[in-house]
Amino acid sequence: MADLLATKPIATIMTEAGEEGAHSLKRALGATNLISLGIGAIIGTGIFVLTGAAAAQYAGPAIVLSFILAAIACVFAGLCYAEFAAMIPVAGSAYTYGYATLGEIFAWIIGWDLILEYAFGAATVASGWSGYVVSFLQDFGIRIPPRLAGTPGTEWVLYNGKWELLSRIGATLQAAGVDPATLPHQTGIFNLVAFIGIAIVTTILVLGIKESANFNNFIVLVKVTVLLIFIGLGGYYLMKHMPETKANWTPFLPPNEGAFGKFGWSGVARAAGVIFFAYIGFDAVSTAAQEAKNPQKDMPIGILGSLVICTILYILVAGVLTGLLKYTQLGVPDPIAIGIDKTGVGWGSFLVKLGAIAGLSSTMVVMLLGQSRIFYSMSHDGLLPRWASAIHPRFRTPWVSSIFVGVFVAIFAALIPISVLGELVSIGTLLAFVIVCSGIWVLRRTRPDLPRPFRTPAVPLVPIIGIAVSLLMMVSLPGDTWLRLIIWLVIGMVLYFFYGRQHSRVQAMAREERALATSDLRGD
Ligand code: ALA
Repeated sequence: MADLLATKPIATIMTEAGEEGAHSLKRALGATNLISLGIGAIIGTGIFVLTGAAAAQYAGPAIVLSFILAAIACVFAGLCYAEFAAMIPVAGSAYTYGYATLGEIFAWIIGWDLILEYAFGAATVASGWSGYVVSFLQDFGIRIPPRLAGTPGTEWVLYNGKWELLSRIGATLQAAGVDPATLPHQTGIFNLVAFIGIAIVTTILVLGIKESANFNNFIVLVKVTVLLIFIGLGGYYLMKHMPETKANWTPFLPPNEGAFGKFGWSGVARAAGVIFFAYIGFDAVSTAAQEAKNPQKDMPIGILGSLVICTILYILVAGVLTGLLKYTQLGVPDPIAIGIDKTGVGWGSFLVKLGAIAGLSSTMVVMLLGQSRIFYSMSHDGLLPRWASAIHPRFRTPWVSSIFVGVFVAIFAALIPISVLGELVSIGTLLAFVIVCSGIWVLRRTRPDLPRPFRTPAVPLVPIIGIAVSLLMMVSLPGDTWLRLIIWLVIGMVLYFFYGRQHSRVQAMAREERALATSDLRGD
């Protein structure tokens, strides 16, 4: 039992991370690149897609408060991530923090759980990305066969000369009095568009971190510019049409309709749970710690900086959006696009679609980057086979694990519905937050002596609130998501006991030490 809780000494972790050479990762990222990496991961499906439905169904204009609430929850976890990432700046992120503090079995659980956040996260975003790509191409008269643009069972209808997802256009058809059964119809078989999206991102990742960072910086610039244009144009319109703006913002907090989560304060809380997805990704910065030039100083800047910038952008976007349109009109898949249309700028929705496509591609990049780095660390520790930490001699990237992860993620994205994937991502991420916050608390007690370039304030209060808020959000997720999480963790445990435990380097070292001690006792 004790060996399950074996910890990996921080000194060993740091020595391994400091080893330079052809088989190590390249230190190429500065503070700006790290902030950009965070923004690249954060701004995606959440703000471009989920905001509208959350406002329309749960919170109304008070969605602004939901964004603040979800941000507060993330800040507590973010502060804990910042302390760890500066203290133990290695590629394994929460997995390695767990190994250093709580023991091997917990490290394995987090590593396995992080697959849900990063690999399934990338698959979820690829699914959303494919929707935007298909719609964008259709605007230019290029039609992708719907059978190859959706997961099995996804239903498409041909309406006004365009193939539309039935789940998206259902409300519009109802309002127009059109029976979907009378329209031409196709069912998805394999989402080839999402598959290709992941294949492109994987290729970029294999080619190199610096190249990936440049690609990411460019895309982040595009998506942030798009959101700023939206805020600028929308804000100007709001000021010019003050009475209309005020009418849209009133009531700011629509009264509860009798059921939990249907407006009122409980609606604000439920909407916060939904748009939590929009913030996922700031923690991915910590997986790039081993590629940072000065991780002690720059990791906290990257994690907290990207979180703060996105929080401000999100609050402004949500405020402007609910001022432009009555919240009841926002239950659409492209709320930002219809919001900008309201300002009367003809090129607005083209711009927003472009921003969304760019935005979602950089989210995929950072998620897959994070996943391959975690596999790299787990394999380095012997918990996964050796090939997963093979570094390409020329590109200096963990190319085998990138390709391995890429193939699986592409298949998931092509076959599993976005809603199933999305909830698994949220529950997996929240579990990682709980373990990271616990780890900070534990390590302050067990190793108060360690140098901490960044200190989480008010320990244990901040970690405790981080744990409580994360658990609360986990509890609000549906029962079948919990079941999937449990099944996933059980599969992980089987793999650990049949492979990881036998091949663990920490266990091997402990066995050697025990053998030496025994032979000393015998006087050999
Ligand atoms: N935060 C990321 C998104 O919204 C995962 O797509």
